[in-house]
Amino acid sequence: MRAKILLPRSHYEIEQDLPYTWVCVQGGKVLATVSLIFFRQDLCEIRALAVHPEHQKKGLGQKVVQLAVDFLRQDYPYKPIHVFALTYIPAFFEKLGFRRTEKEKFPDKIYEVCQFCQRRHDCQELAVELWIS
Ligand SMILES: CC(C)(COP(=O)(O)OP(=O)(O)OC[C@H]1O[C@@H](n2cnc3c(N)ncnc32)[C@H](O)[C@@H]1OP(=O)(O)O)[C@@H](O)C(=O)NCCC(=O)NCCS
Repeated sequence: MRAKILLPRSHYEIEQDLPYTWVCVQGGKVLATVSLIFFRQDLCEIRALAVHPEHQKKGLGQKVVQLAVDFLRQDYPYKPIHVFALTYIPAFFEKLGFRRTEKEKFPDKIYEVCQFCQRRHDCQELAVELWIS
């Protein structure tokens, strides 16, 4: 989490995203988190995925992403929905059924978010996607 992998987010943004955020807490300590960000009813992004450095590689990352995907599969009423993530580790998402794709497929993200990103001229992130019907 300290390795400049995650982009900085304001308190306001975090608060806005809380309704679709899953947080794994143990003894008052946050161990893992992930958010779903809806661009449209049929398009959402998996964002702010992070596991506490002391608790990585124990399945927690997979667990929180699976909880978000299960929510979309079981409780989200508008289907089909296109889910994507921009990531340095597509292999992590591929294990959860996502497949690699092109960032250009997500102009909503590029126009609304990426153009304001401090890493926009040197973005190494890769896109992965999942369709839920
Ligand atoms: C990436 C991250 C969320 C993974 O969480 P985690 O709890 O450590 O991962 P899990 O234990 O759930 O791993 C699930 C699977 O993904 C694989 N995996 C995890 N991290 C990986 C990585 N960096 N590269 C490739 N595969 C990885 C694991 O080996 C495991 O596979 P297996 O079931 O075949 O053993 C966590 O390392 C993290 O917070 N990293 C820093 C922030 C970050 O990179 N966020 C992602 C932004 S998209």
